[in-house]
Amino acid sequence: MTIAPLATARLHLLPLTLDDAPAIQRIFPKWEILRWMGGSIPWPYPANGAKSFLKGIALPAMARGEAWHWSIRPKSDIDRLIGIISLGDIPDDNRGFWLSPDWQGQGLMTEASDAVTAYWFETLGRTHLRVPKAANNPASRRISERQGMRVIDRFRKTLVSGEQDMELWEITRDEWRVSQHAPRA
Ligand SMILES: CC(C)(COP(=O)(O)OP(=O)(O)OC[C@H]1O[C@@H](n2cnc3c(N)ncnc32)[C@H](O)[C@@H]1OP(=O)(O)O)[C@@H](O)C(=O)NCCC(=O)NCCS
Repeated sequence: MTIAPLATARLHLLPLTLDDAPAIQRIFPKWEILRWMGGSIPWPYPANGAKSFLKGIALPAMARGEAWHWSIRPKSDIDRLIGIISLGDIPDDNRGFWLSPDWQGQGLMTEASDAVTAYWFETLGRTHLRVPKAANNPASRRISERQGMRVIDRFRKTLVSGEQDMELWEITRDEWRVSQHAPRA
């Protein structure tokens, strides 16, 4: 299945490829990123972690049409991978993202999230988007809040940082469409 490259005001989102392994391996294994990821991700991160994620999980799921993973690249430097954003047909877990700490705090993931959320609803035709996130991850929560998402459930889950209080955030396609014409919170 072909996955479209996307663009925002400041970013290119390019479908992940095996060539992205060295950059992911260099940037991703940082505690401030990995601590928020699901507990199945190994910590310390192994030397072949990025390559085995791409070969064993991400690229096969993309080929099966079950997941959509993009590298995030600044328009000012398209050769530089600075993060990843993903969509997937996993129940109650449809979107995930991380950004290099050097690039955080500029609204870039808000831009990337808007682009892939539009892709989920308008290109893939899904009717609901649900994302789990730690209740004490304010940056990630804020992105969902600004997108007009709602907390529909609370539960506990083991992340790389241990068992955490989690929230399940949701937005429907109809809510998303209405939010496109409303001022942001
Ligand atoms: C979550 C993450 C992707 C955010 O990326 P980013 O580009 O910095 O996000 P943005 O700048 O688009 O938006 C972050 C929002 O959170 C707010 N924020 C950030 N840190 C915050 C904090 N400690 N307390 C309160 N708000 C905070 C920002 O002010 C911004 O809100 P605003 O747009 O109203 O100003 C990034 O922090 C990251 O990669 N974290 C580690 C991995 C992770 O947590 N992934 C998500 C797992 S669910």
